[in-house]
Parts: sequence; structure tokens; C-alpha cells
Amino acid sequence: MSESNIIIENNDSVRTITINRPKQLNALNSQTISELSQALKEADAEIGVKVIVLTGSGEKAFVAGADIKEFASFSVEEGKKLSKEGHDKLFDLAQNLSTPIIAAINGFALGGGLELAMSAHIRVASDNAKMGLPEVSLGVIPGYGGTQRLAQLVGRGKAMEMIATAGMISAEDAQKWGLVNHVTTVDRLMEKCHEIAGKIVKNSSSAIGLAIKAVNANYTDGENGFETEIEEFGNCFGTDDFKEGTTAFIERRKANFK
Ligand code: CAA
Repeated sequence: MSESNIIIENNDSVRTITINRPKQLNALNSQTISELSQALKEADAEIGVKVIVLTGSGEKAFVAGADIKEFASFSVEEGKKLSKEGHDKLFDLAQNLSTPIIAAINGFALGGGLELAMSAHIRVASDNAKMGLPEVSLGVIPGYGGTQRLAQLVGRGKAMEMIATAGMISAEDAQKWGLVNHVTTVDRLMEKCHEIAGKIVKNSSSAIGLAIKAVNANYTDGENGFETEIEEFGNCFGTDDFKEGTTAFIERRKANFK
């Protein structure tokens, strides 16, 4: 394997994972997908990591898509494998991770790049960011969950327009459409993500993980979100965090979750 394509940094209980192929606008080749997959699993397994911030290196791009040069000569079977492995290894993994992921969208988020941001739990964009699913301009369709997650986030009509025109939208429109939660200046992007992370880390990680599971159940085939909520609500009552949270409330003090 060649040199790593990601950078990992820790700041208290916030782990920042930076995709680091700036010369290729952080395009996701298979090595980067494997490294991201591994990094997310490791972060999720570490008790000390309560929030993950995902971003791209350089000034131009979060991620400009799947690596076109890598898949340009693929066959039908190889194309299916690329998509399936991407879903399994990274995009579904990210969406279902119990540690919340904030995508810090610092420039172009196109194709697989927007799909990665959409797999995160929270999205913050810099005001120069541009987002789109341009795959049909290459003769393919979004293959890392974009046809599903974009429609879930912005509605079917707007998703169809973005996909069929292959166009890019501004950060401002992305916020209006519900695709990103916040827009900041480029300089304030990481600060804003850390501000949100700072609020999250005060809360119960185990409860947040179960809440993610319950919210995602609505978007998972064969699952009933209300039933998942009832089940996981009940499971909370067996956790140390529940005892600490409710005891702290009664004792009129701040909860100290381990
Ligand atoms: N794959 C591979 N390389 C990419 C790339 C990608 N998705 N996006 C950019 N690059 C490379 C360019 O080839 C170029 O490399 P070289 O210098 O070696 O030629 C370098 O990054 C810089 O890019 P540009 O010179 O094109 O930069 P620009 O400022 O002129 O344009 C851009 C920026 C509009 C983002 C343009 O790079 C672009 O259109 N990129 C492709 C976007 C795209 O189509 N993404 C979807 C990919 S398909 C996909 O994601 C499938 C899926 O769902 C699974």
C-alpha cells in the first residue's frame, strides 16, 4: 500500500479525519475508501472519541467524487462491485456509526463526495462550497447512495433536478433545501463544527448511538422506526448513562457521563 490518504487528529474527544489527496481534489480511490472505513471503525471503537469531524485537505475541495481515473475502464461486473463495496465499506458504515459524524464541507462536494457528506449525520458547509451529483455527465448514475440519500434530504423533485442536470448548487441553496445544516465562512468552518461537537460531547454517547439507530431505522428496509424507538428507548434504562443522567437531574447537578 502506498502512503496514507487520510490524516487523523484528536482534540479532546473530537477526532478529525481529513481526506488528503489535494492534488486530485481528494477523489475517493479504493485505497482512500478502505482507509476511511478503517479510521471510522477505529474511532467508533474508542471510548474517548465522542464526535468525528470529516473534511478534505486543501482549499478547493471536500471531495470531488469517486476517482474517475480508477474506474474509467471497469466492466459491468466491476462497476457493480465498486458500488456494493463502497456502500458496505464506507457509506452505510458511516450512516450507521454510533459515533456522530459532522461533515465539514470545505469546497467541492461532488458525486461520491456529496454522497459521503450525506452519509454523515450533520453537514456544515463553507460559503464557497459547491455541491452536486454530476455522474450522468459521465454516463453513470450516483453509485454511493446518492439516488436515495439526496431524495431523503431534499425531496424527490429537487433530487431529480440535481441528478438529471448534473449541476452544482451553492452552499446557500444547499442550506435552503435542507441539504446542509449550517453555512459559515471558510475561516469559521472548523470552529463551527467544533462548536456543535462541543454541545454533543456533553451528552450521553450511548443514548446518541441508540438515537442514530432509531432515526436510521426509518430509512432501512424491513425496519419499523417506531418499533426500533420503543426497543432502544427501553434499552437506555439499562445503561450507566441513564442512571447518571437522571440522578444528576434529581441532584440538581450537571451529568458527568463516562
Ligand atoms: N476523479 C479523479 N480525479 C479527479 C476528480 C475525480 N472525481 N476530480 C478532480 N480530479 C483531478 C483532476 O483530474 C485533476 O488532476 P490532474 O491535475 O492530474 O489532471 C485535479 O483533480 C484537479 O482537477 P481540475 O483540474 O479538473 O480542477 P478544476 O478546478 O478545473 O475543476 C472540478 C474542478 C469542477 C471539481 C473538476 O475537477 C471536476 O469536474 N471533477 C469531477 C467531478 C465529478 O464528476 N465527480 C463525480 C465522480 S463519479 C462518482 O462519484 C461516481 C459515484 O457516485 C460512485
